[in-house]
Amino acid sequence: MPASARSSPGTPNRLARARARLLGQGAPLVDLADSNPTNHQLLPPQVLDAVARAAHLAGRYSPHPRGALPAREALAASFGGSPDDYWLTASTSEAYSWLFQLLADPGGRIGLPTPGYPLIEPLAALAGLGTAPYRTFYVHPSGWEFDLESFDRAAAWAKAMIVVNPNNPTGQYLDAAGPAVDELCARHGVPLIADEVFWPFALERDQPPAPSAEPAPNHSPQATVFHLSGLSKLLAAPQLKLAWIRLAGPDAGQYEAALDQLADTFLSANGVVQAALPELLALMPQTVDDINRRLAANLRTARALPDGFRVRRCDGGWTLLVDAPPVSDDLALDMLERAHLITHPAWFYDLDAPNTVALSLLPEPARFKEQLDRFAQAVMDMSGD
Ligand SMILES: Cc1ncc(COP(=O)(O)O)c(C=O)c1O
Repeated sequence: MPASARSSPGTPNRLARARARLLGQGAPLVDLADSNPTNHQLLPPQVLDAVARAAHLAGRYSPHPRGALPAREALAASFGGSPDDYWLTASTSEAYSWLFQLLADPGGRIGLPTPGYPLIEPLAALAGLGTAPYRTFYVHPSGWEFDLESFDRAAAWAKAMIVVNPNNPTGQYLDAAGPAVDELCARHGVPLIADEVFWPFALERDQPPAPSAEPAPNHSPQATVFHLSGLSKLLAAPQLKLAWIRLAGPDAGQYEAALDQLADTFLSANGVVQAALPELLALMPQTVDDINRRLAANLRTARALPDGFRVRRCDGGWTLLVDAPPVSDDLALDMLERAHLITHPAWFYDLDAPNTVALSLLPEPARFKEQLDRFAQAVMDMSGD
């Protein structure tokens, strides 16, 4: 009996095939899209000490579907709301998966942004769901804009709408579109899943973000919102496996019992890390500042790329989109084959731009500059061919 169709890994794409072949040949590949913060010396050493100190608090197992109360109290103190508004999960990806099961039956659709984070579609497929994409589009140099008409059309079909705020890879914050998105969700009676894992990492945004994604001033939200965040970005610690859902909105109460039941089925958040959470959250502001300094330094370096390259406006997040001169039908593939440099092609994110690639802004600045110089040189070599 084969594995189910929805869990089938499918055939590897052309980039994955080329990468496997080159690795098999022992080629020294350099990954310019590596956004694992623990590969870039960004995990604060105190994090592991805090977890070690908390271990003795977790000797007794007393599970609660929403997670340990002291952990949820610490979250409410840091991000607002009450401890009862929070459900702890092992990761934001898991939170998506729970919410898809909570909000839609198989065959339903989930509204998501394009371009957007590529993991959402496979997570929906695993829950037996399809997608209803809505568009954002780019205008240089002012940045990304929300297509509210396509959001409206998607919301008419969908069982839940997703915003990634700021979006990955575009870096676009919801900002001015927030009240309209709320109204459209309320009008169609669909809840909003707001992925805020990159919220405090603001770069070219006009205003620095408040500590948490609160509603726009003078606007009382109508829609139910499931806010998602976690330690994998806020503390540069994806290996701790702790994230959370914060439920908000006037009709939020209708989901509580079902979400409790779902969470109780898994009880997946690790007890030691939950016990450490109050101490870990105290390390978050400094960690975010350190990462933001790194991102800003690397963005300045990228902005100095030679004429012919265009660095797209990047309001926030850890990813940069760079438009190279038109030298290739698939720049990321050529970059890999000819220069052994790994970049993420725009098509990973459903963006049709063969000479646009996504780069990670996380590397240590001297390394980032060296890698970017190699990238620019490789593009110039291609244009001379
Ligand atoms: C937009 C976005 N959401 C969620 C995640 C996943 O985070 P987690 O490690 O909590 O599953 C990522 C990871 O890169 C991401 O880019």
